[in-house]
Amino acid sequence: MSMPANEYAFFDLQPERGADLDELLAGFRLADKKVSPKFFYDEAGSKLFDEITQLDEYYLTRTEMKLFDEYHREIVDALQVGARESCLVEYGSGSSAKVRKLLDTLRPSAYMPVDISTEHLQAAARALHQSYPWLHVYPTCADFTQPFELPAVADGFVRTGFFPGSSVGNFEPEEAVTFLANVSRTLGSGARFLIGVDLKKDVDVLEAAYNDPDGVTARFNLNLLSHLNARYGADFEVSAFEHRASYNEELGCIQMFLISLRAQTVTLSGEHFSFGAGERIHTENSYKYAPEEFSRLARQSGFDLTRVWIDERGWFGVFLLEVRGG
Ligand SMILES: C[S@@+](CC[C@H](N)C(=O)[O-])C[C@H]1O[C@@H](n2cnc3c(N)ncnc32)[C@H](O)[C@@H]1O
Repeated sequence: MSMPANEYAFFDLQPERGADLDELLAGFRLADKKVSPKFFYDEAGSKLFDEITQLDEYYLTRTEMKLFDEYHREIVDALQVGARESCLVEYGSGSSAKVRKLLDTLRPSAYMPVDISTEHLQAAARALHQSYPWLHVYPTCADFTQPFELPAVADGFVRTGFFPGSSVGNFEPEEAVTFLANVSRTLGSGARFLIGVDLKKDVDVLEAAYNDPDGVTARFNLNLLSHLNARYGADFEVSAFEHRASYNEELGCIQMFLISLRAQTVTLSGEHFSFGAGERIHTENSYKYAPEEFSRLARQSGFDLTRVWIDERGWFGVFLLEVRGG
């Protein structure tokens, strides 16, 4: 019997449900209620995000993909790590759509997609495993807001990091420094890290991207409540909330909220939370950076900036970083 050349192994580093529940309860006890954007992503949330990427208003995916296409050769040349076997680690890999062309040309030995949305991650990784007979595929379910070690199967490979989609914008800037510093330690000195970052631009363009007329972004935001009902036993009445997104000029981020349409009480893990009519749950900040702001953040986190590719409208940047000390 011949063994397939490419291995497939799934690693589950997902936090305990109890730890997530504590985090949720702490957020609902605040005077200004908030939930981490990581709770958007159950199976339905991941599918809704894929729908968002197809929207005319959501320029982010198209602009980043165009940069990957246009500068493909330069990017791959800059990511090449020489003769040693390499593992491409993708953070927040979702459907693993953006990595395919990179895999085709870069031809690493292994691909490790890391994502919190476990079913979606495994389905995407299995599909990839079928398409790339020469590639080891090691999907890893983990929460990248917490420090974590890559599974030992990644030891011995030169590690290259990939983080498209501007998800780094979901961290507060000081949290982004902590996250990036963790990534730099995980990848190791001299490693390359390719990261997509949404840039500051006209407020109308930004706000349209998070308020599409078909209401897909609204469904994505509201799905967070369905997720909390299904996984954590909450009793949100989803239709009693509505989506809101606007740009906060002072902070430099899009902010998403769920607004309670009436006075109501919700129960989560036996604890009651009351909402006044018009009261908000803060579900996401999406920071937009000027190129020099993000470069500064990267330098503070232990990276050197190697290259930046920016589209002609100046809307999106793909940054190639190198872990200092290599
Ligand atoms: C905005 S989507 C981007 C998806 C894809 N990278 C792209 O560029 O289209 C964010 C992805 O990160 C994942 N994610 C969000 N928070 C996460 C966390 N704390 N830990 C791990 N993955 C997370 C989501 O499940 C989702 O797949």
